[in-house]
Amino acid sequence: MQKKLDESNRPRFHFTPEKNWMNDPNGLVFHKGEYHLFYQHNPLGNKWGHMSWGHAVSTDLLNWEHLDVAITEGADGAIFSGSAVSNGDEITAIYTRHTEANQSQCIATSKDNGRTFTKYEGNPVLDLAMANFRDPKVFRYADYWIMAVVKPHQHVCSFYKSTDLIKWEFLSEFGPTAAVGGVWECPDLFPLSYNGEEFWVLLISINPGAINNGTGTQYFIGDFDGVSFTPKYSTTDPRWLDFGRDNYAGVTFNNEPKGRRIFIGWMSNWQGAVRHPETSWTNAMTIPRILGLTKMGDEIVITQQPICEPTYEIVIDATKKHPSGLTGFVELGYNPVSKKIFINDYETDVEPINQQVHLKVIIDRTSVELYTDDGTRWITMAVFSEPEVTRELTNFG
Ligand code: FRU
Repeated sequence: MQKKLDESNRPRFHFTPEKNWMNDPNGLVFHKGEYHLFYQHNPLGNKWGHMSWGHAVSTDLLNWEHLDVAITEGADGAIFSGSAVSNGDEITAIYTRHTEANQSQCIATSKDNGRTFTKYEGNPVLDLAMANFRDPKVFRYADYWIMAVVKPHQHVCSFYKSTDLIKWEFLSEFGPTAAVGGVWECPDLFPLSYNGEEFWVLLISINPGAINNGTGTQYFIGDFDGVSFTPKYSTTDPRWLDFGRDNYAGVTFNNEPKGRRIFIGWMSNWQGAVRHPETSWTNAMTIPRILGLTKMGDEIVITQQPICEPTYEIVIDATKKHPSGLTGFVELGYNPVSKKIFINDYETDVEPINQQVHLKVIIDRTSVELYTDDGTRWITMAVFSEPEVTRELTNFG
Protein backbone atom coordinates (compact mmCIF):
# COMPACT_ATOMS: atom_id res chain seq x y z
CA MET A 1 0.00 0.00 0.00
CA GLN A 2 2.77 2.39 0.99
CA LYS A 3 4.42 1.86 -2.38
CA LYS A 4 1.19 2.30 -4.33
CA LEU A 5 0.44 5.59 -2.56
CA ASP A 6 3.99 6.75 -3.12
CA GLU A 7 3.98 6.09 -6.83
CA SER A 8 0.54 7.32 -7.67
CA ASN A 9 0.18 10.23 -5.26
CA ARG A 10 3.56 11.88 -5.72
CA PRO A 11 3.34 15.21 -7.57
CA ARG A 12 4.65 14.95 -11.12
CA PHE A 13 6.21 18.38 -11.51
CA HIS A 14 5.98 20.09 -8.13
CA PHE A 15 9.03 19.64 -5.95
CA THR A 16 8.81 17.02 -3.20
CA PRO A 17 11.66 15.75 -1.01
CA GLU A 18 12.97 12.36 -2.03
CA LYS A 19 11.84 11.10 1.35
CA ASN A 20 10.68 12.40 4.75
CA TRP A 21 9.32 15.71 5.96
CA MET A 22 9.69 19.11 4.27
CA ASN A 23 8.49 22.60 5.15
CA ASP A 24 9.83 26.04 4.16
CA PRO A 25 12.02 26.64 1.11
CA ASN A 26 15.41 27.88 2.33
CA GLY A 27 18.55 29.32 0.77
CA LEU A 28 17.11 29.84 -2.72
CA VAL A 29 20.13 30.88 -4.76
CA PHE A 30 21.54 30.55 -8.26
CA HIS A 31 25.23 29.70 -8.20
CA LYS A 32 27.53 28.55 -11.01
CA GLY A 33 24.83 27.30 -13.36
CA GLU A 34 22.50 25.70 -10.82
CA TYR A 35 19.36 26.77 -8.97
CA HIS A 36 19.69 25.57 -5.38
CA LEU A 37 16.61 24.70 -3.40
CA PHE A 38 17.38 24.02 0.26
CA TYR A 39 14.44 23.28 2.50
CA GLN A 40 13.39 22.66 6.10
CA HIS A 41 13.77 18.93 6.43
CA ASN A 42 13.56 16.12 8.93
CA PRO A 43 16.13 13.60 7.65
CA LEU A 44 14.84 11.03 10.14
CA GLY A 45 11.09 10.91 9.61
CA ASN A 46 7.97 12.06 7.80
CA LYS A 47 6.82 14.43 10.58
CA TRP A 48 8.38 17.76 11.64
CA GLY A 49 11.54 17.40 13.78
CA HIS A 50 15.37 17.33 13.74
CA MET A 51 15.28 20.36 11.48
CA SER A 52 18.08 20.40 8.94
CA TRP A 53 18.48 21.78 5.42
CA GLY A 54 17.57 19.31 2.66
CA HIS A 55 18.98 20.11 -0.77
CA ALA A 56 18.21 19.79 -4.47
CA VAL A 57 19.52 21.48 -7.62
CA SER A 58 18.00 22.23 -11.00
CA THR A 59 18.82 24.06 -14.20
CA ASP A 60 15.19 24.67 -15.22
CA LEU A 61 13.32 24.89 -11.86
CA LEU A 62 11.08 21.96 -12.86
CA ASN A 63 13.41 18.96 -12.86
CA TRP A 64 15.29 18.61 -9.59
CA GLU A 65 18.24 16.43 -8.60
CA HIS A 66 18.14 15.38 -4.95
CA LEU A 67 21.39 15.85 -3.05
CA ASP A 68 22.54 14.90 0.45
CA VAL A 69 21.30 16.87 3.44
CA ALA A 70 23.30 20.10 3.29
CA ILE A 71 23.31 21.36 6.87
CA THR A 72 22.44 18.95 9.64
CA GLU A 73 21.02 19.56 13.09
CA GLY A 74 23.87 19.61 15.60
CA ALA A 75 24.34 19.17 19.34
CA ASP A 76 24.19 22.97 19.50
CA GLY A 77 20.76 23.21 17.93
CA ALA A 78 18.45 22.68 14.96
CA ILE A 79 18.83 24.44 11.61
CA PHE A 80 15.79 26.62 11.06
CA SER A 81 14.91 28.68 7.99
CA GLY A 82 17.23 31.12 6.27
CA SER A 83 18.77 32.14 3.00
CA ALA A 84 21.94 31.71 0.95
CA VAL A 85 24.12 34.04 -1.05
CA SER A 86 26.49 33.42 -3.92
CA ASN A 87 29.72 35.06 -2.78
CA GLY A 88 32.46 34.66 -5.38
CA ASP A 89 33.32 30.95 -5.50
CA GLU A 90 31.41 30.22 -2.32
CA ILE A 91 27.83 29.80 -1.20
CA THR A 92 27.20 31.13 2.29
CA ALA A 93 24.07 29.98 4.07
CA ILE A 94 22.61 32.22 6.77
CA TYR A 95 20.21 30.30 8.99
CA THR A 96 18.63 30.40 12.42
CA ARG A 97 20.09 28.09 15.03
CA HIS A 98 17.23 26.97 17.22
CA THR A 99 17.22 25.69 20.79
CA GLU A 100 14.34 25.81 23.28
CA ALA A 101 15.81 28.90 24.92
CA ASN A 102 17.43 30.74 22.03
CA GLN A 103 17.22 31.53 18.35
CA SER A 104 20.27 33.20 16.80
CA GLN A 105 21.59 33.73 13.30
CA CYS A 106 24.48 31.57 12.12
CA ILE A 107 26.41 31.06 8.90
CA ALA A 108 27.89 28.06 7.07
CA THR A 109 30.01 28.15 3.93
CA SER A 110 30.40 25.82 0.97
CA LYS A 111 33.34 25.85 -1.43
CA ASP A 112 31.97 22.96 -3.53
CA ASN A 113 28.76 24.36 -5.00
CA GLY A 114 26.64 23.57 -1.97
CA ARG A 115 27.55 19.87 -1.74
CA THR A 116 29.15 20.30 1.69
CA PHE A 117 28.93 23.13 4.21
CA THR A 118 31.18 24.05 7.10
CA LYS A 119 29.54 25.85 10.02
CA TYR A 120 31.47 28.99 10.97
CA GLU A 121 33.34 28.42 14.24
CA GLY A 122 32.45 31.92 15.44
CA ASN A 123 28.69 31.23 15.30
CA PRO A 124 26.30 32.78 16.10
CA VAL A 125 26.88 35.94 14.10
CA LEU A 126 23.75 37.69 15.41
CA ASP A 127 22.32 36.86 18.81
CA LEU A 128 19.90 39.05 20.79
CA ALA A 129 19.49 36.39 23.49
CA MET A 130 15.88 35.95 22.41
CA ALA A 131 13.83 32.75 22.27
CA ASN A 132 12.15 33.90 19.04
CA PHE A 133 14.24 35.72 16.46
CA ARG A 134 14.49 33.95 13.13
CA ASP A 135 14.39 33.35 9.38
CA PRO A 136 17.17 35.67 8.06
CA LYS A 137 16.93 36.70 4.40
CA VAL A 138 20.25 38.13 3.25
CA PHE A 139 20.79 39.87 -0.09
CA ARG A 140 23.30 42.18 -1.73
CA TYR A 141 22.54 45.90 -1.63
CA ALA A 142 25.03 48.38 -3.14
CA ASP A 143 28.39 47.22 -1.71
CA TYR A 144 27.12 45.52 1.42
CA TRP A 145 24.74 42.81 2.61
CA ILE A 146 21.31 43.40 4.11
CA MET A 147 19.55 40.96 6.43
CA ALA A 148 15.78 41.00 6.98
CA VAL A 149 14.92 38.92 10.06
CA VAL A 150 11.80 38.70 12.24
CA LYS A 151 10.84 38.90 15.88
CA PRO A 152 7.76 36.71 15.30
CA HIS A 153 5.68 37.49 18.38
CA GLN A 154 6.36 41.23 18.25
CA HIS A 155 5.32 41.35 14.57
CA VAL A 156 8.50 43.15 13.70
CA CYS A 157 10.89 42.74 10.77
CA SER A 158 14.38 44.05 11.57
CA PHE A 159 17.02 45.08 9.05
CA TYR A 160 20.76 44.69 9.58
CA LYS A 161 23.81 45.47 7.48
CA SER A 162 27.17 43.73 7.03
CA THR A 163 30.19 43.86 4.75
CA ASP A 164 31.51 40.40 5.69
CA LEU A 165 28.35 38.39 6.67
CA ILE A 166 29.87 38.11 10.18
CA LYS A 167 29.54 41.49 11.87
CA TRP A 168 25.97 42.81 11.66
CA GLU A 169 24.92 46.38 12.35
CA PHE A 170 21.31 47.22 13.21
CA LEU A 171 19.58 49.54 10.71
CA SER A 172 15.84 49.76 11.35
CA GLU A 173 12.60 47.94 12.11
CA PHE A 174 9.26 47.61 10.34
CA GLY A 175 6.02 46.67 12.10
CA PRO A 176 3.80 45.80 13.83
CA THR A 177 1.17 46.61 11.20
CA ALA A 178 -1.39 45.04 8.83
CA ALA A 179 -2.09 41.39 9.77
CA VAL A 180 -0.80 40.59 13.27
CA GLY A 181 -3.12 37.74 14.29
CA GLY A 182 -0.27 35.21 14.31
CA VAL A 183 3.52 35.01 14.34
CA TRP A 184 5.47 36.82 11.61
CA GLU A 185 7.89 34.47 9.85
CA CYS A 186 10.12 34.17 6.78
CA PRO A 187 10.55 37.75 5.52
CA ASP A 188 11.85 38.66 2.08
CA LEU A 189 12.69 42.08 0.66
CA PHE A 190 13.48 42.78 -3.01
CA PRO A 191 13.07 45.39 -5.76
CA LEU A 192 10.76 45.06 -8.78
CA SER A 193 10.08 47.62 -11.42
CA TYR A 194 6.90 48.86 -13.04
CA ASN A 195 7.10 51.08 -16.13
CA GLY A 196 10.76 51.74 -15.40
CA GLU A 197 10.07 52.81 -11.81
CA GLU A 198 11.56 50.81 -8.93
CA PHE A 199 9.48 49.60 -6.00
CA TRP A 200 10.49 47.41 -3.07
CA VAL A 201 8.39 44.46 -1.97
CA LEU A 202 8.40 43.12 1.58
CA LEU A 203 6.93 39.64 2.08
CA ILE A 204 5.91 38.54 5.58
CA SER A 205 4.41 35.12 6.25
CA ILE A 206 1.93 34.91 9.10
CA ASN A 207 0.67 31.90 11.04
CA PRO A 208 -2.26 31.90 11.81
CA GLY A 209 -4.09 35.16 11.07
CA ALA A 210 -4.19 34.95 7.27
CA ILE A 211 -7.13 33.98 5.01
CA ASN A 212 -9.75 32.01 7.00
CA ASN A 213 -7.39 32.46 9.97
CA GLY A 214 -4.94 30.04 8.38
CA THR A 215 -1.31 30.47 7.34
CA GLY A 216 -0.52 32.90 4.54
CA THR A 217 1.76 35.59 3.20
CA GLN A 218 1.11 39.31 3.24
CA TYR A 219 3.06 41.79 1.16
CA PHE A 220 3.89 45.47 1.30
CA ILE A 221 4.83 47.68 -1.64
CA GLY A 222 7.15 50.51 -0.74
CA ASP A 223 10.64 51.89 -0.83
CA PHE A 224 13.93 50.73 0.68
CA ASP A 225 16.81 53.19 0.87
CA GLY A 226 19.46 50.84 2.23
CA VAL A 227 18.41 51.57 5.81
CA SER A 228 14.66 51.34 6.20
CA PHE A 229 11.54 50.13 4.41
CA THR A 230 8.71 52.64 3.95
CA PRO A 231 5.35 51.37 2.71
CA LYS A 232 3.75 53.33 -0.09
CA TYR A 233 0.13 52.71 0.89
CA SER A 234 -1.91 52.49 4.06
CA THR A 235 -1.11 49.25 5.88
CA THR A 236 -4.33 49.07 7.88
CA ASP A 237 -5.61 46.19 5.73
CA PRO A 238 -3.28 43.35 4.70
CA ARG A 239 -2.61 42.53 1.05
CA TRP A 240 -2.42 38.78 0.46
CA LEU A 241 -0.09 37.12 -1.99
CA ASP A 242 -2.41 34.13 -2.28
CA PHE A 243 -6.03 33.54 -1.33
CA GLY A 244 -5.68 29.80 -0.79
CA ARG A 245 -4.58 28.06 2.35
CA ASP A 246 -1.46 26.32 1.08
CA ASN A 247 1.21 28.81 0.16
CA TYR A 248 3.38 29.62 3.14
CA ALA A 249 6.90 30.78 4.00
CA GLY A 250 7.58 31.59 0.35
CA VAL A 251 10.76 33.48 -0.57
CA THR A 252 12.67 34.38 -3.74
CA PHE A 253 15.96 33.43 -5.36
CA ASN A 254 19.11 35.44 -4.90
CA ASN A 255 21.38 35.97 -7.89
CA GLU A 256 18.87 34.89 -10.56
CA PRO A 257 20.92 35.10 -13.78
CA LYS A 258 18.22 36.57 -16.01
CA GLY A 259 17.28 39.17 -13.42
CA ARG A 260 13.91 37.49 -12.83
CA ARG A 261 12.43 37.49 -9.33
CA ILE A 262 11.44 33.86 -8.79
CA PHE A 263 9.31 32.81 -5.83
CA ILE A 264 8.70 29.36 -4.31
CA GLY A 265 6.33 28.75 -1.39
CA TRP A 266 5.69 25.75 0.83
CA MET A 267 2.46 24.28 -0.56
CA SER A 268 1.05 23.35 2.84
CA ASN A 269 0.14 25.03 6.09
CA TRP A 270 0.59 24.59 9.81
CA GLN A 271 -3.08 23.79 10.43
CA GLY A 272 -3.43 21.14 7.76
CA ALA A 273 -0.01 19.61 7.27
CA VAL A 274 -1.43 16.77 9.34
CA ARG A 275 -3.86 15.98 6.50
CA HIS A 276 -1.01 14.64 4.40
CA PRO A 277 -1.42 10.93 3.61
CA GLU A 278 1.16 8.52 5.00
CA THR A 279 3.64 8.63 2.18
CA SER A 280 7.41 8.28 2.35
CA TRP A 281 7.67 12.03 1.72
CA THR A 282 5.57 14.79 3.28
CA ASN A 283 4.63 18.03 1.46
CA ALA A 284 5.39 19.76 -1.84
CA MET A 285 6.46 23.23 -2.97
CA THR A 286 4.32 25.59 -5.10
CA ILE A 287 5.20 25.89 -8.74
CA PRO A 288 8.03 28.45 -9.03
CA ARG A 289 6.49 31.80 -9.99
CA ILE A 290 8.02 34.84 -11.63
CA LEU A 291 6.99 37.94 -9.72
CA GLY A 292 6.17 41.27 -11.33
CA LEU A 293 4.13 44.39 -10.69
CA THR A 294 1.06 45.89 -12.30
CA LYS A 295 -1.46 48.58 -11.46
CA MET A 296 -4.94 47.74 -10.15
CA GLY A 297 -7.03 50.83 -9.53
CA ASP A 298 -4.66 53.31 -7.92
CA GLU A 299 -2.31 50.72 -6.47
CA ILE A 300 0.75 48.84 -7.56
CA VAL A 301 0.16 45.13 -6.88
CA ILE A 302 2.17 41.93 -7.27
CA THR A 303 1.71 39.61 -10.22
CA GLN A 304 2.82 35.97 -10.29
CA GLN A 305 3.32 33.94 -13.47
CA PRO A 306 4.24 30.25 -13.22
CA ILE A 307 7.32 28.88 -14.92
CA CYS A 308 5.19 26.08 -16.45
CA GLU A 309 2.25 26.02 -18.86
CA PRO A 310 -1.20 25.80 -17.25
CA THR A 311 -3.08 22.49 -17.27
CA TYR A 312 -6.34 24.27 -18.15
CA GLU A 313 -7.22 27.68 -19.46
CA ILE A 314 -10.83 28.87 -19.28
CA VAL A 315 -12.56 32.06 -20.33
CA ILE A 316 -15.80 32.54 -18.41
CA ASP A 317 -18.74 34.59 -19.63
CA ALA A 318 -19.33 36.91 -16.67
CA THR A 319 -22.86 37.84 -17.82
CA LYS A 320 -24.16 34.40 -16.76
CA LYS A 321 -26.37 34.31 -13.66
CA HIS A 322 -24.69 31.31 -12.02
CA PRO A 323 -21.19 29.99 -11.21
CA SER A 324 -19.26 28.17 -13.92
CA GLY A 325 -15.86 26.62 -14.27
CA LEU A 326 -14.35 23.17 -13.88
CA THR A 327 -15.42 20.33 -11.63
CA GLY A 328 -14.13 16.94 -10.52
CA PHE A 329 -11.91 16.19 -7.50
CA VAL A 330 -12.32 19.92 -6.74
CA GLU A 331 -14.68 22.59 -8.05
CA LEU A 332 -13.24 25.88 -9.28
CA GLY A 333 -14.32 28.82 -11.38
CA TYR A 334 -16.08 32.18 -11.21
CA ASN A 335 -19.30 33.18 -9.46
CA PRO A 336 -20.88 36.21 -11.21
CA VAL A 337 -23.23 36.83 -8.28
CA SER A 338 -20.46 37.32 -5.70
CA LYS A 339 -17.92 38.36 -8.37
CA LYS A 340 -15.41 35.93 -6.94
CA ILE A 341 -13.19 33.22 -8.32
CA PHE A 342 -13.01 30.11 -6.15
CA ILE A 343 -11.62 26.66 -5.45
CA ASN A 344 -14.08 24.89 -3.15
CA ASP A 345 -14.45 27.22 -0.12
CA TYR A 346 -11.51 29.49 -0.94
CA GLU A 347 -12.33 32.59 -2.96
CA THR A 348 -11.30 36.12 -3.88
CA ASP A 349 -12.80 39.12 -5.71
CA VAL A 350 -12.23 39.49 -9.42
CA GLU A 351 -13.59 42.26 -11.62
CA PRO A 352 -14.43 40.93 -15.13
CA ILE A 353 -12.72 42.55 -18.09
CA ASN A 354 -14.99 43.02 -21.14
CA GLN A 355 -17.54 40.82 -19.35
CA GLN A 356 -15.09 37.93 -19.21
CA VAL A 357 -12.95 36.28 -16.56
CA HIS A 358 -9.86 34.58 -17.91
CA LEU A 359 -8.55 31.85 -15.60
CA LYS A 360 -5.68 29.39 -15.67
CA VAL A 361 -5.25 26.25 -13.60
CA ILE A 362 -2.24 24.11 -12.71
CA ILE A 363 -3.14 20.61 -11.55
CA ASP A 364 -0.76 18.05 -10.12
CA ARG A 365 -1.37 14.88 -8.08
CA THR A 366 -1.73 16.73 -4.76
CA SER A 367 -2.50 20.32 -5.70
CA VAL A 368 -4.58 22.87 -7.55
CA GLU A 369 -3.31 26.37 -8.32
CA LEU A 370 -5.91 28.71 -9.84
CA TYR A 371 -4.89 32.15 -11.10
CA THR A 372 -6.17 34.97 -13.21
CA ASP A 373 -4.57 35.36 -16.59
CA ASP A 374 -2.92 38.64 -15.51
CA GLY A 375 -1.35 36.89 -12.49
CA THR A 376 -2.87 39.28 -9.92
CA ARG A 377 -4.96 36.66 -8.02
CA TRP A 378 -3.91 33.18 -6.97
CA ILE A 379 -5.60 30.47 -4.96
CA THR A 380 -3.30 27.60 -4.02
CA MET A 381 -4.57 24.39 -2.44
CA ALA A 382 -3.07 21.05 -1.55
CA VAL A 383 -5.65 18.29 -2.15
CA PHE A 384 -5.11 14.66 -1.24
CA SER A 385 -7.66 12.59 -3.12
CA GLU A 386 -7.34 8.82 -3.28
CA PRO A 387 -4.78 7.83 -5.94
CA GLU A 388 -7.43 6.20 -8.17
CA VAL A 389 -9.53 9.41 -8.36
CA THR A 390 -8.93 11.16 -11.67
CA ARG A 391 -7.35 14.61 -11.58
CA GLU A 392 -9.09 15.53 -14.81
CA LEU A 393 -11.77 18.21 -14.57
CA THR A 394 -14.84 18.83 -16.74
CA ASN A 395 -16.76 22.01 -17.52
CA PHE A 396 -19.82 22.99 -15.53
CA GLY A 397 -22.21 25.93 -15.59
C1 FRU B 1 7.89 28.67 9.15
C2 FRU B 1 8.78 28.24 10.30
C3 FRU B 1 9.95 29.17 10.46
C4 FRU B 1 10.99 28.32 11.13
C5 FRU B 1 10.73 26.97 10.49
C6 FRU B 1 10.99 25.80 11.40
O1 FRU B 1 7.12 27.66 8.61
O2 FRU B 1 8.02 28.15 11.49
O3 FRU B 1 9.67 30.36 11.16
O4 FRU B 1 12.29 28.79 10.90
O5 FRU B 1 9.39 26.96 10.07
O6 FRU B 1 10.90 24.59 10.70
